[in-house]
Amino acid sequence: MKLERVIQYAQTLLKMSITEGDIAVDATAGNGHDTLFLANLVGDEGYVYAFDVQKEAVDATLHRLLDNALEHRAIVLKDGHENVAKYVTKPVAGAIFNLGYLPGSNHDLVTKPNTTIQAIESLLKLLKVGGIIVLVVYHGHEGGKEERDAIIHFVSELPQKYVHVLRYEFINQKNEPPFIIALEKVKNIPLES
Ligand SMILES: C[S@@+](CC[C@H](N)C(=O)[O-])C[C@H]1O[C@@H](n2cnc3c(N)ncnc32)[C@H](O)[C@@H]1O
Repeated sequence: MKLERVIQYAQTLLKMSITEGDIAVDATAGNGHDTLFLANLVGDEGYVYAFDVQKEAVDATLHRLLDNALEHRAIVLKDGHENVAKYVTKPVAGAIFNLGYLPGSNHDLVTKPNTTIQAIESLLKLLKVGGIIVLVVYHGHEGGKEERDAIIHFVSELPQKYVHVLRYEFINQKNEPPFIIALEKVKNIPLES
């Protein structure tokens, strides 16, 4: 028996909620690992929307898709995930965020509390019942703790009637390892009047 590591568990959660023909979102494309993973899950009838604010990340993600001949299953947008609702209008089965900075790149360009929470709010509306949003929360970098705390505060307040919120974390590891927050939509959230 071996407990699933954080990245592995994030993929397990996505595999449980996304199936062929679905719409999926990679909110932080980075080097494109998750976009490729999602493109494999959605099949030829589904579609992935990938977001990143850095040209470098958009290019890396496009290359990864091309290398795997899956570019027709995804659109890679050079825009912030907080604008997800501008592009995605159909129900979403699953979304992933890898927070923090792009490894090997500019460490100053990190995800930020306000825009991350704005994106989560929009995705919760777009999510279909049974769909999931997975956040891999890196918090060791500058600004990471503020983002972590803001997210925890926000998701803890979500009404359990509509959203189940999970935290998956190894609590005895050194060096501030990442952990997972997963949001499962269990019922449609009434629109605010
Ligand atoms: C930890 S990296 C993502 C790693 C990626 N999932 C992979 O497989 O390589 C975080 C990414 O979020 C991006 N980012 C920062 N703010 C963003 C925003 N508002 N919207 C979308 N992406 C953003 C950064 O440019 C960076 O590439």
